[in-house]
Amino acid sequence: MSSYEKPDYWSLRARKEGYPARSVYKLKEMDERFGLLRPVPGGVLRVLDLGAAPGSWSLYVLRQGAARNSVKLELTAADILPLSRQYDRGLFEGERFRFVRGDITLPEIRKPLLERGPFNLIISDAAPATTGNRGVDTQRSLELAETVLDYAENLAGGGSLVLKIFQGGDTAPVLRRIREYFKNGKSFKPQACRPESFETYYVGIQKL
Ligand SMILES: C[S@@+](CC[C@H](N)C(=O)[O-])C[C@H]1O[C@@H](n2cnc3c(N)ncnc32)[C@H](O)[C@@H]1O
Repeated sequence: MSSYEKPDYWSLRARKEGYPARSVYKLKEMDERFGLLRPVPGGVLRVLDLGAAPGSWSLYVLRQGAARNSVKLELTAADILPLSRQYDRGLFEGERFRFVRGDITLPEIRKPLLERGPFNLIISDAAPATTGNRGVDTQRSLELAETVLDYAENLAGGGSLVLKIFQGGDTAPVLRRIREYFKNGKSFKPQACRPESFETYYVGIQKL
């Protein structure tokens, strides 16, 4: 049985804590490390979650907003696939949340998403369906990362970005673009990434 089939520590913990996917712990670690969900003084923290299904990252953001009284937030999320309603307990029906179902590379999806901005934080766990051909998969991941960076052009000054990327292709232009847009740009591999996975995350802090 590969580690993709076997429920591991992170999957079991996600189930116990009411999240549909183990990926929530990757966002949690990045939030704790980089302070992503910072209150906007006197305003609302506007967050965009790209590639959001089944919805763990969105649930984490909404729950953190509810738990930390000081953080007023509004979340917009998008995915080709629907969100899981198994654990949300009505959070996905609240007025602070909007889900747009569709392909984030398409202008007709981009428009309603950007109307909810400008955003203070964009988080993207979007990843292409893998084919098993590493060259094809990394190229598709690079294209998706460039799409996410097009959204990042609409971040408010001081905003932050997290995007997922598959390692192995020419990722340097993506990191270069992040370093152009942000005061700090770095790559970060959370502990909850499966050891054999070739994914990593790029983080941009403080949009210029
Ligand atoms: C790893 S999953 C995201 C998991 C999510 N962060 C969570 O915690 O539940 C990656 C998602 O990216 C989505 N995705 C990939 N390409 C996309 C695209 N072009 N437009 C919208 N969503 C996309 C997939 O449908 C998939 O649901």
